[in-house]
Amino acid sequence: MIVLMGGEKGGTGKTTLATNLAAMRSLAGRDVLLIDTDPQGSANYWAQNRDEWEVKPRVACVQKFGKGLPAEVKDLAKRYQDIIIDAGGRDSVELRAALVVAKRAYIPIQPSQFDIWTLNRMDELIETSKGFNPDLQAWVIISRSSTNPSVHESDDTMEIMGDFPNLGLARITIRDRIAYRKAAKDGMAVCELKPKDPKAVEEMEALYKEVFKDE
Ligand SMILES: Nc1ncnc2c1ncn2[C@@H]1O[C@H](COP(=O)(O)OP(=O)(O)OP(=O)(O)O)[C@@H](O)[C@H]1O
Ligand SMILES: [Mg+2]
Repeated sequence: MIVLMGGEKGGTGKTTLATNLAAMRSLAGRDVLLIDTDPQGSANYWAQNRDEWEVKPRVACVQKFGKGLPAEVKDLAKRYQDIIIDAGGRDSVELRAALVVAKRAYIPIQPSQFDIWTLNRMDELIETSKGFNPDLQAWVIISRSSTNPSVHESDDTMEIMGDFPNLGLARITIRDRIAYRKAAKDGMAVCELKPKDPKAVEEMEALYKEVFKDE
């Protein structure tokens, strides 16, 4: 299956979620390719760090840019069971190209008004992409939300989701937890960190199940 982490907003957790899912899918014994389409190359650095720290299983990662992406991804999809594409935080050729081949697109957003404002355009972009790729399904994931129970920002985001006909809302919310930053540093998923942060592991496992439930 081809899964995309994308969106028009920077720093929302796309690379964090893409790398965690890639490692978890590899741990489940699947042949996974992580494709980094962001010139910043964060997913690629993560995979390099994983190699340097000799974290097993290895996660294969390639960087791909430009309009030729759909053809290349389709070709790679014959050789890997799963492809996870990490797109940068802007409306790019790569984001649009990835939407032509992905089966499931996830758009992490932080529960802030600035992020919510980008959803109108994402909804339109998904609608256009469905013209080329009718199987495409897209979900917003609330990401990096506060762990403080008195902060209810996520609720406001959930309320407005009905306004976007092409975007579902993922059932799981990802919270802002140090474990995500620690794991990223060493090329790991949160489930590989020692000591573990059980809450981070639990929410990533829930997201994993949601993404790959039919596969
Ligand atoms: N759930 C989280 N909890 C804590 N820190 C997080 C979480 N998600 C991401 N971060 C941190 O926030 C920063 C941005 O995350 P990340 O690089 O995953 O976002 P991105 O959407 O890929 O950004 P860009 O748009 O620049 O590609 C990183 O330092 C990352 O470690
Ligand atoms: Mg990124």
